[in-house]
Amino acid sequence: MIQYEQLIREAIAAKEFAYVPYSNFRVGAALLAKNGNVYKGCNIENASYTPTNCAERTAFFSAIAEGVTEFSGIAIVGDRDQYLAPCGVCRQVMAEFCDAKEFQIILAKSETDYKVLSLEEVFPYSFTKENL
Ligand code: THU
Repeated sequence: MIQYEQLIREAIAAKEFAYVPYSNFRVGAALLAKNGNVYKGCNIENASYTPTNCAERTAFFSAIAEGVTEFSGIAIVGDRDQYLAPCGVCRQVMAEFCDAKEFQIILAKSETDYKVLSLEEVFPYSFTKENL
């Protein structure tokens, strides 16, 4: 059972480290692994723009680099009063490692105002290893 509010707090904390000199658009993410670990991520931009890494992928890659590859859900927060949904590239990374029906994506405006969607809802008809 995911502790939504705790995960959102971690995402808010992660946002503090966002490196965003070009967009000034901070994003924080907190990824809950099935083993109970939480991996935080922020967006990291670059003068060459394209190497920019979203907060969600930073969290995923941090976990995977430690050998953790099974996940329950992710909380995502920005600075604006909006539910910030993951970009297409991040959805594709989620589809590689997460069960579409079970994985929960928590789009949070605050600790108490959030929306929970499954990966399947956010990313239907995805291309995955099952298609190969
Ligand atoms: N960004 C994220 O980190 N996550 C999202 O879900 C959407 C976009 C970042 C990338 C870039 O640093 C900034 O937000 C503006 O696109």
